[in-house]
Amino acid sequence: MKKSKKQTVSSKLVKTGLLRGGRLGRHVPRTVPLSWDRLRRMLGKSGMVYAKPDTGSQGIGIMRVDRGKGYYRYQLGTERRRFRTHVGLYRSMRRQIGARRYLIQQGVHVLRHEGRPFDFRVMTQKNAAGRWVNTGIAGRVAHPGKIVSNGSQGGTIYEAARLLRPIAGRARAARLIGGMRGLALLAAERFGRAYPAMNELGIDIAVDRGLKPWILEVNTRPDPCPFAKLDDRTAIRRIVRYGRGYGRRYCLRCGKAKKGQ
Ligand SMILES: Nc1ncnc2c1ncn2[C@@H]1O[C@H](COP(=O)(O)OP(=O)(O)O)[C@@H](O)[C@H]1O
Ligand SMILES: [Mg+2]
Repeated sequence: MKKSKKQTVSSKLVKTGLLRGGRLGRHVPRTVPLSWDRLRRMLGKSGMVYAKPDTGSQGIGIMRVDRGKGYYRYQLGTERRRFRTHVGLYRSMRRQIGARRYLIQQGVHVLRHEGRPFDFRVMTQKNAAGRWVNTGIAGRVAHPGKIVSNGSQGGTIYEAARLLRPIAGRARAARLIGGMRGLALLAAERFGRAYPAMNELGIDIAVDRGLKPWILEVNTRPDPCPFAKLDDRTAIRRIVRYGRGYGRRYCLRCGKAKKGQ
C-alpha cells in the first residue's frame, strides 16, 4: 500500500474501505455509495440501512431507512416520512440530499437504554514508542426520539459498563468492552499502516441485540469531549497526556454532550 503523510481523512467510504476483510471485516457493516439499485438491494436484504453524507460529521444529515410490509420510511433528525413505494422513498431522500455525496451502510439494530439507541466511542492513540493504545471508552445514548448518538445532537455520555451491565450482566459486559477495545486496536493498526503520520483515532462501535460489536466509523480528528463528561477522570487525563506526547493540545471546554446519571 502507498504510504501517505495524511493525518486526517474525511471520506467515510475511503475509511471503511480500509477496514474490509479479515477478522476485522466481519465487524464492519457493508458500506457502499448510495444509488437507487444499491439502496433497493440492501433494503431487500437487511430491511434497515443508514444513509450518511460521505464526508459528514456530528450526525448531521444521517437517515435511518427501513422497509416493512407494504411501506418504506426514513427518519432524519426527529422527522419521519413514510412511502408506499421505493420510488417515493428514493425521490424524497434525494431531495434531502441535494448535491452531496452519500453512502449507505447496513443498519445495526443497536442496544437501547430507556428506549434510546446507544453506542460507544473508543479513543485510540499512539504512545511514545509509536504503538497504538486504547486510552478511553465511553457510552453515548441518543437524544430521545433521535437515531444518532452524537453529543452535538443531544446525546448523553455514560460509563460503558453502566450501559452494558443491565443488559449483558457484569461478566459479559466486561468481555464485550474488552472485545471492542480489541477491535479498535485492529482498526487503528490498519489505519496506522496506511497513514503512518496518524497519531489518534476515535472509533465508533455499536453492539447489536445479539451482543455482536460493529464498527460504524473511524474518526481521524477525534473529539476528547465525551471523556470529559465521565465521573472517572482517568480516561480524559490519559487522553490529554498521550495527546501532549505528539504535540496535540485539546480544547476541553465541552458544551455539547450531556452527562448521564
Ligand atoms: N449502520 C448503523 N447502524 C446503526 N446506527 C448507526 C449506523 N451508522 C451510524 N449510526 C448512528 O449514527 C451515529 C452517527 O454516525 P457516524 O457514522 O458516526 O457519523 P458522524 O460522522 O456524523 O458521527 C452513530 O454514532 C450511531 O448512533
Ligand atoms: Mg460518529
